[in-house]
Amino acid sequence: MDVTQAIKERRAFRSLDPIEITEDLIKDLAFHAQLAPSCNNNQPWRFVFVFDPAKLQEMRAGLSQGNEWIHAASMIIAVFSRKEDDCLIRDREYYLFDTGLATAFLILRACELGFVAHPIAGFSPKKTREILGIPEEYQVITLVNVGKHSAAISPVLSPKQVEWEKARPERFPLEKFVYLNSYHQE
Ligand SMILES: Cc1cc2nc3c(=O)[nH]c(=O)nc-3n(C[C@H](O)[C@H](O)[C@H](O)COP(=O)(O)O)c2cc1C
Repeated sequence: MDVTQAIKERRAFRSLDPIEITEDLIKDLAFHAQLAPSCNNNQPWRFVFVFDPAKLQEMRAGLSQGNEWIHAASMIIAVFSRKEDDCLIRDREYYLFDTGLATAFLILRACELGFVAHPIAGFSPKKTREILGIPEEYQVITLVNVGKHSAAISPVLSPKQVEWEKARPERFPLEKFVYLNSYHQE
């Protein structure tokens, strides 16, 4: 699979079938995340790969309403970072940006391997920190939920989520976010 194919095929599917989580898979995903660029090569990203069934069960307590589909995930990757671990150039804080880049690489690799890797913001960082033992100075940025796309639509999805399962949510036209040579107000 080439890059454009992985980008086009990646979807935030919510109907998941189980997959086997192996040390090789975790190392593979971490290896691809690690090759992302970062300011001054600071590599501020940190990941907890959660696949122990009891721990996955515990993590349900931190999920927001509407994210019950995650109960079917075989692995949840907690992505976290802290601003001191990356460039701080006046008011520009790069830790979120660089961790996002690494996470995108990880997600695309998972897609290439035939898996769904779906990031979310609908969770409690506080509860997640408590459950996983992550110190308070870290920002838990996202949970990436991993499984295999199921052809059977998950019964816990809302009508909107079912719609998104069937077709990719529409994107803005390029004119909305692309400017040539200088910015201009819409
Ligand atoms: C930062 C972020 C937060 C998200 N939060 C959630 C979430 O809490 N629950 C959920 O079901 N999907 C969540 N999503 C998935 C988006 O809804 C999805 O990526 C978007 O609708 C576009 O669909 P596509 O990724 O299939 O193209 C999130 C995605 C990102 C990048």
